[in-house]
Amino acid sequence: MINENSESAETVKKVYIKTYGCQMNEYDTDKMLEVLRHENYSQTDCQDDADLIILNTCSIREKAENKVYSELGRLRHLKSANPDLKIGVGGCVAQQEGKSILNRAKNVDFVFGTDNLFELPEMLKMVGKGQKFSRTERHSRQKVRNFIPDYTFRQAQNFGVKAHLAITKGCNNHCSFCVVPFTRGVEVSREPEHIIVEAKRLVSTGTKEICLLGQNVNSYKANGTDFVELLRRLDKLENLKRLRFISPHPKDFHAELADAFVTLPSLCEQMHLPLQSGSDRILRRMRRWYSMETFYEKVDLLRDRLPDATLSTDLIVGFPGETEEEFEMTMEAVKNVRFDLIYSFKYSPRPGTRAAEYPEQLSEKVKAERLKVLLETQEKIIREKNEALVGTIQEVLIEGNHQRKENSVTGRTRGNHSVSIKNCGEKAGELLAVRITGANPSSLAAEPFAASPFSG
Ligand code: 5AD
Ligand code: SF4
Repeated sequence: MINENSESAETVKKVYIKTYGCQMNEYDTDKMLEVLRHENYSQTDCQDDADLIILNTCSIREKAENKVYSELGRLRHLKSANPDLKIGVGGCVAQQEGKSILNRAKNVDFVFGTDNLFELPEMLKMVGKGQKFSRTERHSRQKVRNFIPDYTFRQAQNFGVKAHLAITKGCNNHCSFCVVPFTRGVEVSREPEHIIVEAKRLVSTGTKEICLLGQNVNSYKANGTDFVELLRRLDKLENLKRLRFISPHPKDFHAELADAFVTLPSLCEQMHLPLQSGSDRILRRMRRWYSMETFYEKVDLLRDRLPDATLSTDLIVGFPGETEEEFEMTMEAVKNVRFDLIYSFKYSPRPGTRAAEYPEQLSEKVKAERLKVLLETQEKIIREKNEALVGTIQEVLIEGNHQRKENSVTGRTRGNHSVSIKNCGEKAGELLAVRITGANPSSLAAEPFAASPFSG
């Protein structure tokens, strides 16, 4: 039993959590670990050692969902070797599939939804008594509002140089391809005071960069504080060097937010602005609520103020009914905007979504061909854009030693480019001025720049 009497309080159990999908899931995993630490669990990165295995799942595309079932298959032998091992499935697949996971994978002990992760202590007691169950009830808006319980804040812990901080949960947009509104529910914004407390705690343990998370992060509003006001309040935190956010929706990106990039020193010159398609007809069918003309205006809002800001995007190829001409329009948009990074996906029909019901589903072959063309063009653009950075001076936040290169550290520029730096004595968490000396499509190389204006 966990934490119930003095004898059990001394027994530290081990938990292994495997995380699939987006940053929101990574954030949820961190929160699960905080709750479990409170329950006398320590984290292990070896499945064989674990008393408890949790899969924090993603259902954004079919491939992600299939991975979960394959992993559950692989875990069968661990359960046979250790019948005391408990296996839980949380996250988006759990929210959508619920009980049917228990039927499909007999080795699973419990399933829990995206609103239920803070009920882990209670659920683990039930599991300890040999119960098998699925818990995916949605909570009231009020309960979800401050979804991070205060007790998880009490533990002194180092959260790392860079940390995520969720400010909203759920999404009201119902883009026709997207499963998120089903798996994460309606949009709820956390109270600004709670967000500030969490940010201060991160900074007090050495975090230098915070990335605010939300499915439609820039529609944040709570207690009269809107997104820009929240950024202003966070920017004032002493020792918080960098602030970022993902993912904003283009429809909610406006001049006031663009101004914030100029006026708030901590807000990094980088934005992820998901486009999804370059065709107005497809955008309408996706229910994205902007046209290409508006999207270009939004890009200009940022680039008029900061011509060198890094801009990344998400694109879907092979949406139902997408013609060759409409795919060409996406290619046109890619060539016109010249994004610094693109996350591109083949459309994947998701259960419950409108687009999955559209009759004109395209073949896997067409989707794969379009993705290939897009990736080739994109790689060329990124190569050119990264090469143009060679010779420039950049501020880098050091994240740690390079995994493969001796005598090197890695970090990121304010534009969010990954950089490796040779022969530098700086430690994780320090800011350093560097000169970019080399570039490839995925990272930059650099050397320390003398008389660093950023150090100290
Ligand atoms: N198929 C393919 N890509 C998808 N995305 C969301 N749903 C789907 C889907 N059904 C992509 C979108 C979104 C990103 C997080 O994942 O581009 O912005
Ligand atoms: Fe999904 Fe659209 Fe909401 Fe993003 S904005 S989470 S794509 S429904």
